[in-house]
Amino acid sequence: MGLLLPILLGFLAALIGALYLLGAFRQRRAREPPLDKGLIPWLGHVLEFRRDTFKFLERMRKQHGDVFTVQLGGFYFTFLQDPLCFGSFVKESREKLDFSNFAKQLVYRVFGYKANDGDHQLLQISSNKHLKGDGLKVMTQAMMANLQNLMLHNLSSATEQRTWIEDGLFMYCYNIVFRAGYLSLYGNVPHNSKGSEEGAKEKDRVESDALFYEFRKYDQLFPNLAYGVLPPKKKMEADRLKEHFWNVLSVEKIKNKDNISGWVWDMQQEREERGMKESMIGRYNFVLLWASQGNTGPSSFWLLLYLMKNPDAMKAVKEEVDKVLMESGQEVKRGGPLVDLTYEMLTKTPVLDSAVEETLRLTTAPVLTRAVIKDMTLKLADGREYFIRKGDRMSIFPYSAVHIDPEIHPDPHTFKYDRFLNPDGSKKTDFYKGGKKIKYYNMPWGAGVSMCPGRFFATNELKQFVFLMLVYFEFELKNPDVEIPQIDFKRWGFGSMQPVKDVQFQYRFRY
Ligand code: HEM
Repeated sequence: MGLLLPILLGFLAALIGALYLLGAFRQRRAREPPLDKGLIPWLGHVLEFRRDTFKFLERMRKQHGDVFTVQLGGFYFTFLQDPLCFGSFVKESREKLDFSNFAKQLVYRVFGYKANDGDHQLLQISSNKHLKGDGLKVMTQAMMANLQNLMLHNLSSATEQRTWIEDGLFMYCYNIVFRAGYLSLYGNVPHNSKGSEEGAKEKDRVESDALFYEFRKYDQLFPNLAYGVLPPKKKMEADRLKEHFWNVLSVEKIKNKDNISGWVWDMQQEREERGMKESMIGRYNFVLLWASQGNTGPSSFWLLLYLMKNPDAMKAVKEEVDKVLMESGQEVKRGGPLVDLTYEMLTKTPVLDSAVEETLRLTTAPVLTRAVIKDMTLKLADGREYFIRKGDRMSIFPYSAVHIDPEIHPDPHTFKYDRFLNPDGSKKTDFYKGGKKIKYYNMPWGAGVSMCPGRFFATNELKQFVFLMLVYFEFELKNPDVEIPQIDFKRWGFGSMQPVKDVQFQYRFRY
């Protein structure tokens, strides 16, 4: 009995200590946002958040308003869901809201890459040089050549037959856009290695196709991998796939390619000069592959599907595409030269631009997150001020706060290809909430320090793909009445959403 009391007291102290560490005693302090810890210590609301992020955040917003703090797996996240106040989040100094540390942990867990301090700056320098301005022209040209190789290589034999080919639209679009993007960034098989240009092109087609199927396997494991909840067997599969990508994208293999993009090359060279191990550089190449290829393929699917389901939109885009082609002095004809869709031609497509933006509004749903480095006061546009604690995280979810807000985008679930067009054909940028013009009216690319550096290239990739589909192919849904599939809720938060199921279509060469 003499010993039992100290043991019990010790156990109680340990329990209280553990609960303290698990955040069970955290109370809302004066001037802090409403706090909702959930019922389960440490985990808080993470299960509901994971199950359906959108639904959970809407429930919290109804309950607590547009700023609230929730506990998710040991962290306290303050969500800011008033788009008029997004500037406070996006423009806050890096000394208070930091993106890098948060991203570092994620890339290590998901891609096995140990980030260095200068990484983000290096990415920005290389992206400014190669994914904008003149660099973007080079990338766009490379993408064109690769799309031609993948989409038009059997033109002469197929025109003779003009047979319909059936496929799943999602897999078809993702496959082509992934492979063309991959080849444009990581380079082509050198002609001399295969004895002929055609041999090298064939090898590009075969290798990129095999890589796509491995990428899809990883893609499907990705949401659970990112949340650290993969069951052991799937974790082993993810590890195998990681090794495979590290190998395919190793420095040695990339150096044997022709036409490697300046974007990948510069970052690889700089890391070598800084003394990073080759194996780690290969891992970074995998991070870049993921960031650059995980979203564009799914987006190309949604774009083509929305066009097919909206004949007015399809007609307007097709007319624009035909006009641009005609004005360039080119023509698609049997046995004629391949269409060279240039960067300049892509600057003359406001209707297609609006259709792309509308597609991204409906189908991209990133959660943007920062780590709170210092205690800070969040000042909102309407004068409210909230105290935010150091060690917490801050997030915004533009999909529900902006993309489908009916005040900003009336009839928000309907695809309106001209939503981002003014009557005079210029780009529409005036959108309002509560009578105030809002700056962040569509956020597929995120915002601020982590805003997608590939956004201009990605937009061109989508436009090039659709352009070639429209001028070279006839295509139609197998069942014209098929419904647009639901988006897969497991992927909320990661960028472009994917459908829960594929949609069958058929295509054949026009000429
Ligand atoms: C439709 C296609 C795309 C969409 C919707 C998209 C979306 C996004 C979003 C939302 C982010 C920010 C994530 C965050 O703040 O946490 C991001 C980051 C990034 N994206 Fe994209 N992206 C696309 C295509 C591309 C392409 C083609 C490239 C490269 C060629 C690219 C490269 C990157 C990189 C490197 C980052 C990380 C930026 C950083 O760490 O600061 N993306 N993307």
